[in-house]
Amino acid sequence: MAEIHIQEVRKTFGKVVAVNNVELTIHDQEFMVLLGPSGCGKTTLLRCLAGLEDVDSGRILINNEDVTEYPPRNRHIAMVFQSYAIFPHLSVFENIAFGLRMQHLPKKEIEKKVGSAAELLQIENLLERFPAQISGGQRQRVAVARAITVEADVLLMDEPLSNLDALLRLEMRAELKRLINELHTTVVYVTHDQVEALSLGDRIAVMKSGNLLQVDKPLEVYDHPATEFIGGFIGNPPMNFLPAVIDTGGVHVGETDLSLDLLPEGYKHPGSAQNVKIGIRAENVKVLRGPEKNALMGKIFVVEPLGSTNLLTVVVGKEYIKVNTHPTENFQAGEEIWMQMDSNKISWMDVETGVTLV
Ligand SMILES: Nc1ncnc2c1ncn2[C@@H]1O[C@H](COP(=O)(O)OP(=O)(O)O)[C@@H](O)[C@H]1O
Ligand SMILES: [Mg+2]
Repeated sequence: MAEIHIQEVRKTFGKVVAVNNVELTIHDQEFMVLLGPSGCGKTTLLRCLAGLEDVDSGRILINNEDVTEYPPRNRHIAMVFQSYAIFPHLSVFENIAFGLRMQHLPKKEIEKKVGSAAELLQIENLLERFPAQISGGQRQRVAVARAITVEADVLLMDEPLSNLDALLRLEMRAELKRLINELHTTVVYVTHDQVEALSLGDRIAVMKSGNLLQVDKPLEVYDHPATEFIGGFIGNPPMNFLPAVIDTGGVHVGETDLSLDLLPEGYKHPGSAQNVKIGIRAENVKVLRGPEKNALMGKIFVVEPLGSTNLLTVVVGKEYIKVNTHPTENFQAGEEIWMQMDSNKISWMDVETGVTLV
């Protein structure tokens, strides 16, 4: 049982503001992913949680207990690092047992706990070996096994899969998800990989330059990014952005006039013409061969068959956007097409700030 409250936590290194007044609540047994580009402060925030960094200001509460001044060992936290940090001179068994030995548990109990963690991670047959005698993926399992044996209230993981090759990463990602489901632990998981974040997180906290931008369920972050940056960072391909002007007559994208009906409920027109960006994902555009109401005209620049979908790059005025079509539709480069955007899936963003309007 562990609920975490991060309250206005700030951490600087000289002039660098690594974590800027971050406010975040992580629920008991939640899998929270911290996502953001390299250097945005993810590791620093995690290390503050673990007590490996002193915060400049703010507080960290675990189960409503203020642990801000506590040393790491008093926080009931286990951590898995990016570089697996397993000891080369210790056998797999001793590596997994490390935390338990620190707790001075009886020998029998250590054997039992190491055995069950090893079983869970399917490395029972490696216990006698040394790290140099096992693969990268297996070393990663050892690091995870060691972290879970201590049965901490909170499990912190910092890019635990980033040292693995692509195939192994996919496999370990699914395994981790299953494993953590079974553990009923509160997890804070750091990654710069948006697919990993979408696949693993109960919620995703998106960071940029030390700031927390959005905290939401994966599909919510994907469908309704709070800013242009998030729409562009999450998803493959990234969200498309088209400059547009909204006035009392309609939504104007280049030469095309679209209906005000596309605007969401709750949109308030500022009175004068408003410059915005329309954010729309490749799969939320219907591609047609002839003109239709509320359809943007474009010319296909290139077609990329990706197996399950054909990805089209389309020139709309001066902009290039990407849209998905079914492979059987057989669109060709050079064709003129018309595109209807799903109004429920459009993000309307302020042209200056990139912040979503409604
Ligand atoms: N020990 C440190 N000393 C000085 N600067 C640091 C230190 N640790 C991190 N930083 C800086 O803080 C910022 C955030 O780093 P970090 O938390 O490692 O980002 P991330 O994990 O998101 O890649 C970066 O600008 C980084 O250079
Ligand atoms: Mg990092």
